[in-house]
Amino acid sequence: MKAAVLGASGFTGGELLRLLAFHPEVEVSYATSREYAGRPVHYAHPHLRGVYQGLRFEPLSLDRALEADVVFSALPHGVGVKVTGELYESGVMVVDLSADYRLRDPGLYPRIYGFEHPYPDLLEKAVYGLPELRGEELRGARLIAVPGCNSTAAILAAAPLAASGLLEEPARILVDVKAGSSEAGSKPSRGDHHPLREGAVRPYSARGHRHAVEAEQELSRLAGSSVRVSLVPHAVPAVRGVLASAHAWLREGVDEAAVARAYASLYRGKPFVRLVEARSQGRYPDPKFVAGSNYADVGWAVEARLGRVTGFAAIDNLVKGAAGQAIQAFNVAAGLPEDAGLRIPPLAP
Ligand SMILES: NC(=O)c1ccc[n+]([C@@H]2O[C@H](COP(=O)([O-])OP(=O)(O)OC[C@H]3O[C@@H](n4cnc5c(N)ncnc54)[C@H](OP(=O)(O)O)[C@@H]3O)[C@@H](O)[C@H]2O)c1
Repeated sequence: MKAAVLGASGFTGGELLRLLAFHPEVEVSYATSREYAGRPVHYAHPHLRGVYQGLRFEPLSLDRALEADVVFSALPHGVGVKVTGELYESGVMVVDLSADYRLRDPGLYPRIYGFEHPYPDLLEKAVYGLPELRGEELRGARLIAVPGCNSTAAILAAAPLAASGLLEEPARILVDVKAGSSEAGSKPSRGDHHPLREGAVRPYSARGHRHAVEAEQELSRLAGSSVRVSLVPHAVPAVRGVLASAHAWLREGVDEAAVARAYASLYRGKPFVRLVEARSQGRYPDPKFVAGSNYADVGWAVEARLGRVTGFAAIDNLVKGAAGQAIQAFNVAAGLPEDAGLRIPPLAP
């Protein structure tokens, strides 16, 4: 299949190029950038030198994108939506890494993302691209809303708790997120600039992060009843990686064995979720051990004295939190093996 990557000079665009270069069924035929138009792709991504022969950045053009079978859009939210809606309506498969199709309710877009959605009808047609939970719906999908990086980690950490009815009602989950600096993209604001970020451990968006809305939407859907989610991210001195620790309260009488069964049962057979159980493996999930890969390491801990449970998920924000997950969801939608192009072990140390 011919693939276009919109926003290919950015961090997630670069990861799409890196991973798609070795995808057995995909050839990248179009990569966009305003700043680097005319330059070879390794000009913005020096690590890709020699990986692509002759692929150059081009300006964003609807006509060029229409030549592709699948368009991966790694443009900022509110920017890509101007073309992705038209591409979808013209029959092209769209895999959107921005937030433009993640929320079901169009009324939320002005408040949360600052724009009126130009294609509100498409929000119902888009499938939330989290294959571990939406695998069936993704089959044959033509419009995929790739989840946010913090939301991916938060949802994977808490989904077994929400799905199994183990939580005290009303279910409320407080997600503490540690996030690496690449979350901020390749054109960071002052606070994300290296000299101000290196060594920092800093909470941000502590009064309602956008990704909490997404996590609430998906976990409530999974639970079949309202699940309230609060999410507070912290900038930490890492480039890649998200660790979500999702704290909640168990129903009276629910023990650690029931929690362990809930995690094992929801993630059985899911190729990119690895359960990291502290009692037998001596550690909790750590983004260090998923870097560069599409794996999500997921674990839990129960503090029996208090009836408190914490679900953990560690991912690489640019892979399972963005480009890798986009390809995984595309694979499922296109009827390809779920792990096509993604059989890459993490980097260590
Ligand atoms: N970073 C992450 O961890 C992460 C994770 C999940 C999802 N996402 C989402 O993925 C998308 C890309 O994020 P990123 O981190 O890769 O950002 P980024 O590094 O800033 O890249 C943005 C890309 O979009 C292009 N672009 C920006 N404004 C444009 C405009 N007005 N018209 C045309 N092209 C434009 C940029 O290239 P030129 O300026 O050269 O045109 C660049 O290629 C965002 O929607 C983000 O929310 C990011």
